[in-house]
Amino acid sequence: MMKVLIKSGPEENFPLWAECFKKADPSLDVHFWSDKSVDPADVGYVMVWEPPQGWLASLPNLEVVFSSGAGVDHITKDPSWPEALPLVRMGGADMAQRMGEFVVWSALSLLRDTRDFALGQAAHEWRYKEVEHSAPQRTVGIMGLGNLGVGSARMLSAVGFNVRGWSRTAKDIEDLETFAGPAEFEAFLSGADIVVCLLPATAETKGLLDATAFAAMPRGAGIISVGRGQHLVESDLIAALDNGGLSGAVLDVFDKEPLAGDSPLWDHPRIIVTPHIASTPSRQEKADFVAASIERHKNGQALSNVFEAGRGY
Ligand code: NAP
Ligand code: GLV
Repeated sequence: MMKVLIKSGPEENFPLWAECFKKADPSLDVHFWSDKSVDPADVGYVMVWEPPQGWLASLPNLEVVFSSGAGVDHITKDPSWPEALPLVRMGGADMAQRMGEFVVWSALSLLRDTRDFALGQAAHEWRYKEVEHSAPQRTVGIMGLGNLGVGSARMLSAVGFNVRGWSRTAKDIEDLETFAGPAEFEAFLSGADIVVCLLPATAETKGLLDATAFAAMPRGAGIISVGRGQHLVESDLIAALDNGGLSGAVLDVFDKEPLAGDSPLWDHPRIIVTPHIASTPSRQEKADFVAASIERHKNGQALSNVFEAGRGY
């Protein structure tokens, strides 16, 4: 039986992972990634977040790499990662539910300008103001219509927002106005009062949220950045917030994480910063997903959510 190694969080949490994998499939032989008792030749599967450079290439009989997250950029940035193997992106309903909760919270925070109330509270100031719009009067545009983008769209609609989406390939999704490709990007942005970025990190998506994009949005639009830090040009965001082009932003992901203590983003009065916590599904959901995929792989069945090098996600 090929072993499964886990690198997702600190070693002290490994017993929690072991318990979840035991529930998912008691036949799996699961170890912490740096367990010295494991012969690298016996490792068939890994579930990882930010594997050290060269480590995956040092496992000679590896069959499948599972990303502990939906993004895989933390794996593919290692030039020696074993590209011939299937690389599986984490998916699942709980991940979409949690992202939807974060996006709805963020959109409502922008709608109600909760950042200003928090600053008022810290200063003991009664900052009374009338709320200008309700959700049905606002349109949220979602960049990226994958597991997380579509899940978030459904939850935003349920709260009353109008929702539109933009993806690489054209989509036909019930109750969702959709746009696709670079040619329709500006039209998509021009009708979005709040833009949510739920794209993967690829060469094509780098820097899409820049001054040109902000200028294409209605004046006073808001930004929710939950994909990856590389999508956002931070200096352009600050300039647009300072000149009123944008009215607020919720940022969960950053170019460099953890965000440096001296970053101007922390204290900006129109920015809410969260530490890359938008959606981390439960350990049990991840273990169930990986165990079910290993079972499929062992039975010669196709895996879902496999990274495609040609498109970069
Ligand atoms: P997914 O299912 O792979 O969906 C990706 C979406 O992005 C697809 O709709 C895809 O278009 C679209 N896309 C890719 N390249 C594009 C381009 N050049 N132009 C326009 N659209 C493009 O991914 P997911 O599971 O929803 O996750 C999305 C991302 O969220 C992850 O890659 C990760 O970076 C981020 N994430 C963040 C957190 C957090 O806690 N902050 C948690 C989980 C994930 P097609 O539909 O045409 O293929
Ligand atoms: C988190 O950012 C993920 O990619 O799942």
